[in-house]
Amino acid sequence: MEIVIQRSADAAIEFVTQIIAREIRGNPRCVLGLATGRTMEPVYARLAQLHGNDGLDFSACRTFNLDEYVGLAADNKHSYRHYMNQHLFDKVNIAFDNTHLPDGVAANLADEGKRYERLLAQAGGIDLQLLGIGLSGHIGFNEPLSALSSRTRVVELAPETIEQNAQLFGGAHNMPRQAITMGVGTILDCRRCILLATGYEKSEIIAEAVKGPITHMVPASALQLHSNCTVVLDDPAAALLGRISNYV
Ligand code: F6R
Repeated sequence: MEIVIQRSADAAIEFVTQIIAREIRGNPRCVLGLATGRTMEPVYARLAQLHGNDGLDFSACRTFNLDEYVGLAADNKHSYRHYMNQHLFDKVNIAFDNTHLPDGVAANLADEGKRYERLLAQAGGIDLQLLGIGLSGHIGFNEPLSALSSRTRVVELAPETIEQNAQLFGGAHNMPRQAITMGVGTILDCRRCILLATGYEKSEIIAEAVKGPITHMVPASALQLHSNCTVVLDDPAAALLGRISNYV
């Protein structure tokens, strides 16, 4: 696990944006794994800017998102499909058919998990997976107790996650209780993982994920097992890490 600490959130966001842009330039047909959430919004805004100003070309890229809420159709403004269209896909030259998210309204959600895994395998797996981290320790929506070998499936959202995202839904009572998410095992199969966390609010869970034991109680700690994982932090998110050279 490589830990990169930047002075500010802007610098951390720029660092991650440039990793993604380099991947796309070096391998125009790359398969990108994408995350949603507040942390990623400025990354997508910068990628859209690089497309507009510098011609960053998404035309041959394929993307797979980590997760989707169960029960939210693509046209629901709270769905992650809507988020991705709004923040990235509608702003760059990616082919809509090359963008994938699990279908949260599939008639058979167990089959949907298997279909998504098949699609990922047919695409040749993920070259670069972008990850955020939840206050529960989740990556994707793999909440505490997720098996480290888990694959794409339906999960129950943790109370911390409902609290973390309730505001976006106008209150916890409006939030879906389930999501369909790539598993921890699916994420560990990606060739490279980049986890971005900013702000002091994330410092405690980052310290647990990075220097705590590998445990299914903190699913992000499984990334310690990955041979090509970079954790990019701003100073506040790294506040509880102590002597960083120990963890590189
Ligand atoms: C969503 C996802 C989640 C978020 C995490 C952080 O696709 O993968 O793991 O990355 O909940 O969310 P923010 O950035 O809103 O703090």
